[in-house]
Amino acid sequence: MRVKNVVLIGFMGTGKSTVGKVLAGRLGWQFVDTDQKVEERQGMTISEMFATLGESAFRQTESETLDSVLEQSSQVISTGGGAILAERNRLSMKKDGYVIALKAAAETIIERVKHDQSRPLVQGDVEERVHKLLESRRNAYDFADLIIDTTGVSVEEIVEQIIAST
Ligand code: S3P
Repeated sequence: MRVKNVVLIGFMGTGKSTVGKVLAGRLGWQFVDTDQKVEERQGMTISEMFATLGESAFRQTESETLDSVLEQSSQVISTGGGAILAERNRLSMKKDGYVIALKAAAETIIERVKHDQSRPLVQGDVEERVHKLLESRRNAYDFADLIIDTTGVSVEEIVEQIIAST
């Protein structure tokens, strides 16, 4: 890999962490999950952060965390699904990483997130919330250097595709 970092972006439940861990293993690189780093930095879960500090405080910590992670190199970085909403984050991802967007069908996403309480934006009527958020982020991930439709593709195949593309 000639790139400094690989940055995985994509909606919740598109497989960023799963793919990222396998890819990092293959490359012998560090796997970093920005959601996890945000939780460590703040000393609370993302749900607690949304509930007590609000989404904008979470977004601020997310941007600061991303900046600090991107200072290092040889990492596969899995980002939270909304990290791409801030232009400053899109710019820093592109500057210090090779950005890969993972896409998945709405039905697949719903199946993966529906029993998960750790994602505050898709609690309650999960189907409706996923569809609405997907709609509002329709082209938000398209600034990536590589876009992978994961439908019917195994994790191994996705990893191969990424390695072959760099
Ligand atoms: C979010 C996605 C989550 C997490 C937070 C907000 C979003 O990350 O950062 O709940 O806005 O799409 P994952 O994509 O890892 O679930």
